[in-house]
Amino acid sequence: MKNKLREKIKKQRMEMSKEGIVKKSENIKKTLLTLSQFQDANLIMSYIHFRNEVETGKIMTTALQMGKRVVVPVCEVKTKKLIPAEIKSYPEDLQCGAYGIMEPCEIKPVRPEEIDLVLVPGVAFDVNGNRLGYGAGYYDRFLARLRSDATTIALAFEMQILDNVFPEEHDVPMDYIITEERLINCQKNN
Ligand SMILES: Nc1ncnc2c1ncn2[C@@H]1O[C@H](COP(=O)(O)OP(=O)(O)OP(=O)(O)O)[C@@H](O)[C@H]1O
Ligand SMILES: [Mg+2]
Repeated sequence: MKNKLREKIKKQRMEMSKEGIVKKSENIKKTLLTLSQFQDANLIMSYIHFRNEVETGKIMTTALQMGKRVVVPVCEVKTKKLIPAEIKSYPEDLQCGAYGIMEPCEIKPVRPEEIDLVLVPGVAFDVNGNRLGYGAGYYDRFLARLRSDATTIALAFEMQILDNVFPEEHDVPMDYIITEERLINCQKNN
């Protein structure tokens, strides 16, 4: 069930135009910047967009300009663990890593408990914050290690918001989802 849905939504997302992605990502960034959880965060973790994910480059450069610390996920393939690693400059500090995703040239790990806010990618979500990811469980394993007062925010296009993403016991739900059209407070929907 999950795999079929993943393939379908990923294919649909690959059909989006570059201009559409840039414009929608810009809207999503604007909404993110209005959130107190973002404004108040000292240390944020952001995925680096890949394929047609919501773009995060401008979010990272803005956060760095605001004096925040920024970490990006590094996939440790052997253990299926995500290592949060700090960058001081985007995109200069990055090179190509596992799965073709960019990662820091030099890995400076940060403890998950230090992170205030995490921007999470995904394939599909429901309004209750349930997430369908890429199928390896990297984020589920990682998010379980955050402080309980850390905020998780998924960035997604409206086409990724579905009625049912078939959540399982181990799936860690999101606190908020931001799309080009709305801010979804997932706790309110539960
Ligand atoms: N906390 C965990 N500890 C051990 N195994 C886990 C944990 N979370 C998920 N898994 C395993 O990882 C596999 C993939 O999980 P799932 O289908 O939820 O992936 P996903 O959330 O789509 O992937 P990703 O987070 O990498 O984008 C499952 O077989 C699941 O049992
Ligand atoms: Mg999962």
